Amino acid sequence: MNRLLTLLIPISFALIVGACSSVDEEPPEEEGEPALRDLAQARGLMFGAAADAPQINANPQYRVTLAREFGALTPENELKFGPLRPSRVTFSWDNADALVTFAENSGMKVRGHTLVWHQQNPFWLTSGSFTRAQLMSILEEHIKAVVGRYRGRIGKWDVVNEGIADNGSMRQSLWFERIGPEYIELAFQWAHEADPDALLYYNDYSAEGSGAKSNAVFNLVSDLKNRGVPIHGVGMQMHVSTDFFPGAADVAGNMQRLAAAGFLVDITEMDVRILLPASSGELAVQGEIYRTMVDVCLDAPNCMSFTVWGVTDAHSWIPGFFPGFGAGLLFDENYATKLAYSRIRDLLSGLN
Ligand code: XIL
Repeated sequence: MNRLLTLLIPISFALIVGACSSVDEEPPEEEGEPALRDLAQARGLMFGAAADAPQINANPQYRVTLAREFGALTPENELKFGPLRPSRVTFSWDNADALVTFAENSGMKVRGHTLVWHQQNPFWLTSGSFTRAQLMSILEEHIKAVVGRYRGRIGKWDVVNEGIADNGSMRQSLWFERIGPEYIELAFQWAHEADPDALLYYNDYSAEGSGAKSNAVFNLVSDLKNRGVPIHGVGMQMHVSTDFFPGAADVAGNMQRLAAAGFLVDITEMDVRILLPASSGELAVQGEIYRTMVDVCLDAPNCMSFTVWGVTDAHSWIPGFFPGFGAGLLFDENYATKLAYSRIRDLLSGLN
């Protein structure tokens, strides 16, 4: 063998091995149809899903569908206060780390959810008799530890979740009652100090369209921004049902007034629950609602991403929280695409 060949063979072998191992980390090739994440990206929209560590660990079909179809991942529970903080002095990072690593290996962005909420807080926190100053320092330490750990890896945070009550007043949470309304601006300030490059969002439900709660959210975030608090966006959860959902014009109008006030918006947790068993008529209505909301987001220059709250109807919070309801997502219990999926796919492809 001449000298050139002896040199080239190991080099080409190394290139093939190198290529294979980097391909290993990419989402698998799609068969035939383009995936939602790519169609959305071509339209300038990030398309995401909530996902949890137990399913990612246990279920290859879940993993493959998630990585193929979605360009962003919101940890469904793993970054919440309770799951992260088994005691005041310990952090339990394993599940959150695993999700962030999975997302990175799959070329997905991560949305951090959520730093301050009235639910899923640990018992040591809710039952402890902390002074105001102690509670403030617990919250500051928590936010700085969590945001700081993922600095540069999680670019967007739901800093405060559901701080407004359904009637538009401030929600009487642990944080509100013991720290006062300023817990909100403090949380944004601490998150900003921990990662000055992260986009910081206020996130809520039933405030997507018009009405008292939507106005209250608008007034809250506008006031924060006017006073120089580092807040960049508003998350619209969009947990709706085929019987009850906001009108497209109302959501578009709300996005527009938020844009005029300098805010980005995201649809952060969409699902469309159906009273079971889901009829084909209801599934068609569901498809229309999904399509409409993606369309509204595409039309709004400040609407950056669209996230559904789960991958498959086989794993969704709906049946547990809304007894009798289910079938709210884009893939059915067997991972077959639903009508809602094809309505969104066709819209993103410019077909309808
Ligand atoms: C839900 C999760 O999906 C469930 O697994 C958990 O038991 C409760 O929380 N609004 C939110 C989300 O902001 O964090 C909630 O997620 C759904 C409602």
